[in-house]
Amino acid sequence: MDQLMAQIEQYKKEIKDEVISSKDELEAFRIKYLGVKGVLKSIMGEMKNVPADKKKEAGLMLNEFKQMVESYYQELALNFENAGSESTDKPDVTLPGQPFTIGTRHPISIVHNKIVSIFQRLGFSVAEGPEIEDDWHNFTALNLPENHPARDMQDTFYISQNPDWLLRTHTSSVQIREMEKGELPLRIICPGRVYRNETISARAHCFFNQVEGLYIAENVSFADLKQTLYFFVKEMFGADVKVRFRPSYFPFTEPSAEMDISCLICGGEGCSVCKKTGWVEILGCGMVHPKVLDNCGIDSNKYTGFAFGMGIERITMLTYQVKDLRLFSENDVRFLRQFTAAL
Ligand code: DAH
Repeated sequence: MDQLMAQIEQYKKEIKDEVISSKDELEAFRIKYLGVKGVLKSIMGEMKNVPADKKKEAGLMLNEFKQMVESYYQELALNFENAGSESTDKPDVTLPGQPFTIGTRHPISIVHNKIVSIFQRLGFSVAEGPEIEDDWHNFTALNLPENHPARDMQDTFYISQNPDWLLRTHTSSVQIREMEKGELPLRIICPGRVYRNETISARAHCFFNQVEGLYIAENVSFADLKQTLYFFVKEMFGADVKVRFRPSYFPFTEPSAEMDISCLICGGEGCSVCKKTGWVEILGCGMVHPKVLDNCGIDSNKYTGFAFGMGIERITMLTYQVKDLRLFSENDVRFLRQFTAAL
């Protein structure tokens, strides 16, 4: 038995050292190992000398060796065939195709696409901007001057080469860039990734995705803002979902509000997701502060506008009842495969 094992090991080594660079050498290899008087046949013959209680183990070992030799031979044969077909033969179109698995869309992408398509139907177009921003576009132009306490809520990562550069904390910076172009009226949504210096937990991450919206024209009022967001909620969550606005504060809007929807999980009865209130906050909004318009060279006596901003992760968590934000960036396919694009 030990002898048989040693023999097999020896052959394995030999096989590795075989130089096979032509079809003739390949055929010689086949005859030597797989032929009627070949190595395999001869060591199969050794089986009769193996004691009865070791036969099973020896059989397994032999089988494994046989499979190894056969698949090695087939692999080499295929290589030669392919090499040959390159120059002479046409590809065999009857061969089965290479199987590949089709992935699924990331839940954040599914929700992102849905949000974008709802606003596109209302005439909003998509605007994008850089993730590395300067202080002006991310803060100062938005009426968040240096040392303003509201900056504390949006601490971020700074680029060491230039203290003026940072990773944007919201896509409101894209609103500024678009307003500075001076083409009015303006009706845009700004989806994109944003960053904050947060301790990572189930509810917070140092990066996430937002969609912000902006509409600037003559005579835009808070009623337009509400009607636009009512439409969004109805399309996104269904006609039964209720909406409420709460007064809030953002330096770049005045008045400002936070918008809640009735809890999707309990329908407003009160549960752990809505912390027994029946409501969950989904976005911030307001009328664009005249100072922001002025900062971008827009006449605030003539134009008014509304803006809003929401986190895509938050809406995705509510939609699919995902309880831990970290799942979205861990790339675990067992999690990611569960979502279908039909939302
Ligand atoms: N930029 C805010 C944030 O990231 C969200 C927001 C609130 C955006 C109100 C807006 C707005 O455009 O009007 O927290």
